[in-house]
Formats: sequence, C-alpha cells, structure tokens
Amino acid sequence: MCKFMITGGQTLNGELTVSGSKNAVLPIICATVLAGGPCTIENIPNIADVHSMLNILKKLGADVEKLDKNTIKIDTTNINTYEATFDLVSKLRGSYYLMGAFLGRFGKAVVSLPGGCKLGTRPIDQHLKGFQALGVDIEEAYGKITAETYDKEGLMYANNIYLDVVSVGATINLMLAACRAAGQTVIENCAREPHVVDVANFLNSMGAKIRGAGTDIIKITGVPHLHGVQTYSVIPDQIEAGTYMIAAAATGGNVTVKNIIPRHQESLTAKLLEMNVGVEEGEDWIRIYNNGVIQAANVKTLPYPGFPTDMQPQITVLLSLADGTSKIVESVTDFRFQYTEELKRMGADITVNGKMAMVSGPKKLKGMTVQAPDLRGGAALIIGALAAEGETMIQDVQFIDRGYDDIVGKLQSVGAKIVRVEDDD
Ligand code: EPU
Repeated sequence: MCKFMITGGQTLNGELTVSGSKNAVLPIICATVLAGGPCTIENIPNIADVHSMLNILKKLGADVEKLDKNTIKIDTTNINTYEATFDLVSKLRGSYYLMGAFLGRFGKAVVSLPGGCKLGTRPIDQHLKGFQALGVDIEEAYGKITAETYDKEGLMYANNIYLDVVSVGATINLMLAACRAAGQTVIENCAREPHVVDVANFLNSMGAKIRGAGTDIIKITGVPHLHGVQTYSVIPDQIEAGTYMIAAAATGGNVTVKNIIPRHQESLTAKLLEMNVGVEEGEDWIRIYNNGVIQAANVKTLPYPGFPTDMQPQITVLLSLADGTSKIVESVTDFRFQYTEELKRMGADITVNGKMAMVSGPKKLKGMTVQAPDLRGGAALIIGALAAEGETMIQDVQFIDRGYDDIVGKLQSVGAKIVRVEDDD
C-alpha cells in the first residue's frame, strides 16, 4: 500500500506526454486470444490493470514477452482453456472481455464476474443479451457466467442486436465474439468511444471485417480465422490527457499535453473554454494556460462524444475553484460522487442529490489526509491537492495506479511537489 504526499500551491509549467489508453488496451490484450499467432502491441501503458490482464493471459497459457518499455508481444497459441476463475479476474472489470474472446475462439466461455472500481450497479445484461442473439446459451450461477454455443461445432451465427443501453463494454464484447460468427452481425445503438474504434481497428488488422466503429451502427462480417499482428500502436489515453489538462488549469499553470488526439478531447476543451480557461491546440498536443478568473459551468456526462463520466470527478474539482454555481449531472454511472466527501473536507462546497451535484465557488482548498475512493475520484483528489494550500496525503493510491502510468513522475516533470511514500516509511 502506498500514499501520495502533495504540497499544493505550485503552478504547473512545461510539457508532459500521455501514455496509451487503458480502456483500449485492456480489450486489445483480450482480443489477442482470437489470433492464430503472435501480436506485437506498442504504446502499452505501464499501469496495474495492464499488469493484471497480462498475468491473466500468462496463467491461461499465453507467452507474453516485453520487447521494450511500452511494447509487448503476446502469443496465445498455447491457450487451451476457456475458463477464467474468480482469483484471476477479480482485480479488474475489463476481464469481462474474455467472454467475447473465448466465445470467438472456443465457442465456450466460463468467466467469473469481474471486479474493478466500485461505481454502483454495473450490470452486463447487454453483453449477455447480445451473446444469446449470436446463438449462445448463457447460465449465471454462483458469481460466474457459463456460455456455450448451441451449435455442436462451437459456431456462432450472425444476428441483428439492438443495445438498450449505450455500453462501451457490451459493444466491444460483442465485436470480439461476432467477428467469428457466421454471417453479418449488425449492432445498433453502439458506443462510439475512441477506444471502441481502436479495438475495431486492431481486430481488422487481425483479419476481421468490422465497419462502422465510431458510429452507432457497427456491421461485422464473421471470418473463420484471425491472424497475428506485426505491430499495432494503441491510441493515447483520452482520460489521462484530460486529467493533466484540468490539473494545469486548476493550478493556473501553462502545460502542453503531448501525444494526444485533440479531437478526442473536444467535449472537455469546449467546457474549459466556456469556463474561461486558455486552450490552444495543435495536431497532437493541447496547451492549457491561465486566462484569468475561471467561471462556473454546467456539466452533464454522456456517452461519447458527450462529456465523459471518467472526467466528471476531475472537472468537479475545477468547478469548485471557479467563480459561481455549477450543476453537474452524472447520467452514465450510478455511483460516482464518493470523492466529493473527501473534497468537501478539503473545503469544497458541494451538495450531492442522487445523480446531481451543485458546486459553489470559488473555494480555497486546504491540504489534509484523504482517501482515494476509486480511480478517477483519486485523480480528482490529486488535482484538489495540487491546487490546495498546504500538504495533502492521499491514501489508497492503488486505485490510481490502476489507470495512470507514472502519474508522480509526469506531474513532477511539470513542477508538482508530489512523492510516493510506502506505507512503512
Ligand atoms: N450498462 C447496463 N448493462 C450493460 C452494460 C452497461 O445497464 O450490459 C450500464 C451500466 O449502468 C453502466 C453504464 O451502462 O454503468 C455504462 O456502461 P459501459 O458498459 O459503457 O461501461 P463499462 O464497460 O462498465 C467502461 C470503462 C469505464 C468507463 C465506462 C464509461 C473499462 C474497463 N471500463 O466501463 O472506465 O467509466 O466504460 O465510459 O473500459 C475508468 O476508466 O475509470 C472506468 C471506470
């Protein structure tokens, strides 16, 4: 167990580079289960969720070779099981992608229900409904899903699937399975997130036939075989980039966030401009600078291209430093305001009512000991601590390590006073 010690009040200045996308790389690693040969993947972030996912594959029998700091070669040829037990998958929610991948490869899957951040009820009914439509029999008992095709040869059959909820997880899981189903599957009301597109591109580089990723209708023509991939580079992490953009704004700094796709940040940059934060962008970078008093704004989270739920905690910190009253509506995830209790202790004026929060500012935050409740809530507390007066100790940073590659080093490189402390120290 580690903590972060942060001395607030430093203005962040300089440049930092964003790593590969967590929510793209996790399904991409699972997708290698479908490949009939080695896959070399570049721009892999060095985060705990990736380590957990690679460990799962190794325990299933895959060869995983680290070629350099961010490049990994995965060969799943020797995997001969379609079962992922609770001890393997409990650490991360992204492990549910093994269902689609096992179904695509073996026509069967036995996968325990996943762990991950505690963000309220997060059903996977849409994943299961979609698998059933492809000809898969599903049984759910004792915390695990047993899925098997009706077809004796293990073949799935294409179908039309309409998702009742726009779900990143269901869209990707169904793409994984359907690229081996006979015929053309059409998924409607799909998630349009950049990581959905990235996974589709990876699968297409393995020989899949997926069209329409990035729109709300995806068409997948099943193929009998998928091959390995010589090199594929994961897209930059949209949420990591946004977190640093907000950290720069919260400290009144001047930071260029590099190796990003500015189009993926549009809902955030539009909001920051509305709040009077200085924003300049180039082909693969965005510079955030101090433009005077930050103004209140209303935020509603929505599936992409709307404002991401994964940025809601971070923008709330900035809104508590902004002049005026802001309303935040969380419409994607059930339970994503736990961090506000810690932020309120630091001096923020936030009233939560169900899926809505009212924030009044500007408030001067004060450093103290706080606990990271989950990944993005933890990131928000770091931003609060950077903007606060005095010292903050953030506990339970294992949540933050799940999704941020070298957050301490990157923030130090732009002038933050942040150190990692082992619990025994
Ligand atoms: N939902 C259903 N039924 C389903 C699937 C989803 O009702 O079958 C509902 C749930 O209420 C859920 C909401 O739809 O809360 C959104 O679900 P989605 O499937 O889009 O999200 P997810 O797959 O559970 C992924 C990310 C999350 C991110 C969300 C939204 C991974 C491993 N996780 O979760 O990432 O918040 O999409 O973009 O990709 C994070 O990175 O901090 C994180 C929590």
